[in-house]
Amino acid sequence: MNHPLVKKILFSEDQIDKRVSELTDEIAEYYKKNNLKENTVLLIGLLKGCVPFMANFLKHFKYECQTEYMVVSSYLGGTKTSGEPKINLDLNISVKDKHILIVEDIIDSGITLDYIKKYLYFKGAKEIKIVTLLDKPEGRKIELKADWNGFKVENEFLIGFGLDYEERLRNLPYVAVCDVTKLKDWKW
Ligand code: IMP
Ligand code: MG
Repeated sequence: MNHPLVKKILFSEDQIDKRVSELTDEIAEYYKKNNLKENTVLLIGLLKGCVPFMANFLKHFKYECQTEYMVVSSYLGGTKTSGEPKINLDLNISVKDKHILIVEDIIDSGITLDYIKKYLYFKGAKEIKIVTLLDKPEGRKIELKADWNGFKVENEFLIGFGLDYEERLRNLPYVAVCDVTKLKDWKW
């Protein structure tokens, strides 16, 4: 049984797994061709939404990598973005001269990633690439492109596979459209 707040499942666990395996192959190819310093890429996962995607990504990714995480919030916990990113957890290692791959769950307005990209370049990163599981191009408020994306989605509020509504529903094993009409009077 699907969660009762699900309006429609967009991508099943199997579909996601298959797509992530294609993506990681493509990305590993890119890095193999680019002769990175120590043949290593630094993956930076954006918590908390990246967790299921990052785990799946790491399982399939066949290239030397280091992993780090940041918490950057721009959502106020509901279904609308606040538009002012804030770093709540910073990196523990230097990004100077590193090749970075940001691992994100979904790009909507683009504001969060634009902010992080500028921040990491300011800290001396050599190259910053972005992989996102989901891309909502219609939501853009700023010009920002992912270098790789799993799936393009419509401008709807999504839940599951890391995506939350007020910190809940991240544990659904699929990506789904949320039935937002039910949220207002929802009893958890
Ligand atoms: P942006 O700065 O608007 O691109 O915000 C991206 C962040 O907002 C993502 O990393 C998600 O955490 C969150 N987000 C965007 N769209 C959704 C959605 O449909 N459901 C849940 N979270 C979302
Ligand atoms: Mg996120």
